[in-house]
Amino acid sequence: MIPYPKEIYLETSTICQFACIFCLNPRLPSRQTLSFEKIKTIIEKFENGTLIDLTGYGEFLMYPEFESLVSFLTEKKIKFTFNTNGQALNKRKQDILRSSTLSSINFSLNTLNNKLHYYFSGEKSNLDNILTNIIQFVKKPRDFETSVSMVVNSQNFLEMTNFVKFASNNEIENVRFIPLAQNVEYPENFNSPDNIEVVKSLQKATLLAGKLGVHPYGIDPNAWSSVLKKAPMTTCTVPWRMIIIGVQGNIAACCNLPNYSLGNINEKSFEEIWNGEKATKLREAIKTGNNSICKNCPEFE
Ligand SMILES: C[S@@+](CC[C@H](N)C(=O)[O-])C[C@H]1O[C@@H](n2cnc3c(N)ncnc32)[C@H](O)[C@@H]1O
Ligand code: SF4
Repeated sequence: MIPYPKEIYLETSTICQFACIFCLNPRLPSRQTLSFEKIKTIIEKFENGTLIDLTGYGEFLMYPEFESLVSFLTEKKIKFTFNTNGQALNKRKQDILRSSTLSSINFSLNTLNNKLHYYFSGEKSNLDNILTNIIQFVKKPRDFETSVSMVVNSQNFLEMTNFVKFASNNEIENVRFIPLAQNVEYPENFNSPDNIEVVKSLQKATLLAGKLGVHPYGIDPNAWSSVLKKAPMTTCTVPWRMIIIGVQGNIAACCNLPNYSLGNINEKSFEEIWNGEKATKLREAIKTGNNSICKNCPEFE
């Protein structure tokens, strides 16, 4: 028997109040939710030491059973993390999260400019409200780590140093600069910035981050132009240590194998799926090297 995974990616719902210009969410055909009862049957099996990432393709603060799930994770002493747009982080949710097992939270801020925020995220967004929520919530003392992130694009890449200053002024430990994924169609004036320009901006931001004691997460400015050219991987441990549970109950072993479903939790128990035929076949393929399942994985050359 393979020990249960310690890293879980769980999509609780695809509900979101925003319609971000760069996001797949507003293009989804419908809004779906995974019930707390169903989630409970899976999580019950996990032990202390597991980390659950509740980000998915929705907005976790909008999950209708937010309170029940957070209480359950806290009772079970299971740590969790998530990305949020921050808009629904009212006082009540802040209090619940402050006394929970939350280990880290990332605010997907993208810009500090009101007009641009509205352009990015649509008419439901209110940057002033978001900033108030963030500033209240990240006040120390606290037991969780914090970060703010920017999906870097042609409209916001010059704001990187402002992000670093914002983080430093509010004792936010990390800043993440995320490359724009090309998974949806964008308007004409919206795309990835010019590589040379973005590297200059990253270098300035990284320098300032060093001075102010903020950790710039994920992207080394020198590596920006080779983001997609990662070092080739010789082995892989992913299907032994993590699992992705989608909102429809499908379980994937890896984000690079979204269509290789190991099974659906609405049809089988988690044990059956984790130790089932498809999971075993994938692990064997990796172990033997006779692996056609991962042939399109970008991590391999
Ligand atoms: C899909 S969102 C869901 C969580 C939450 N609603 C939020 O905005 O943080 C998860 C993360 O994906 C990022 N994201 C969305 N579209 C993206 C894109 N085209 N390229 C890169 N990151 C993207 C968001 O900024 C966010 O940090
Ligand atoms: S807030 Fe998050 S999930 Fe919602 S549309 Fe924006 S990036 Fe997507």
